[in-house]
Amino acid sequence: MTAKIAPSILSADFGQLADQVQQCVDAGAEYIHIDVMDGHFVPNLTFGPIVMPALRKIADAAENVTLDVHLMTENPEQLVPMFAAAGADIISVHVEATKHLHRALQQIRELGVKAGVAMNPATPMMALVPVLTITDYVLLMSVNPGFGGQAYIPETTGRIRALRQILQSSNLKALIGVDGGVKHHNIAEIAAAGADVLVAGSAVFGGDNSIAENIEKFNTILAG
Ligand code: DX5
Ligand code: ZN
Repeated sequence: MTAKIAPSILSADFGQLADQVQQCVDAGAEYIHIDVMDGHFVPNLTFGPIVMPALRKIADAAENVTLDVHLMTENPEQLVPMFAAAGADIISVHVEATKHLHRALQQIRELGVKAGVAMNPATPMMALVPVLTITDYVLLMSVNPGFGGQAYIPETTGRIRALRQILQSSNLKALIGVDGGVKHHNIAEIAAAGADVLVAGSAVFGGDNSIAENIEKFNTILAG
């Protein structure tokens, strides 16, 4: 499978959110990444499920768009039902944010949503292994979560390779997402290591080029 780009709306212009997300979809983005921050688990705040209806409308019209919700929140279990009801396709909870990761993943699946596990750069890979059989998506953080525009942590590449091997040797089908510092200059290396979904915020919405140009450039590299 060719890896897919997942624009993170964290770096969008919120005054033109729907328009910018539509531009992503028109340029071929099949994932929209939604960064939810609570000011406790991470030192920054964003939004709650209130942002979802506007995005759901665009995804429904396009038909092939996945709304990928990344909960950087303590007690994620409390927000899961609200994001499920608001139309999330994937909900990821952080390994470090819940005492009951297995239960949280079950809860997500019972609500008919794909269950994701997000993991900070310093968390040992082994923390994932006991839950991989009930995990649809692993989101490996390649920055310390909380802010867009940070540099990719190079050790992540080895972690992607290690996770790809674990999944292959156990014949498990979870997708591997990589989140943070994904740019045009490093995406080929990150995809080659085994990533399926590449989250990019500032490299899609920032800079001098248009959103469409940024996404097309990513997709050309990924297809190459
Ligand atoms: C970090 C977020 C990322 C981030 C990516 O806490 O989870 O999704 O917005 O942004 P860039 O691509 O700018 O690193
Ligand atoms: Zn994210």
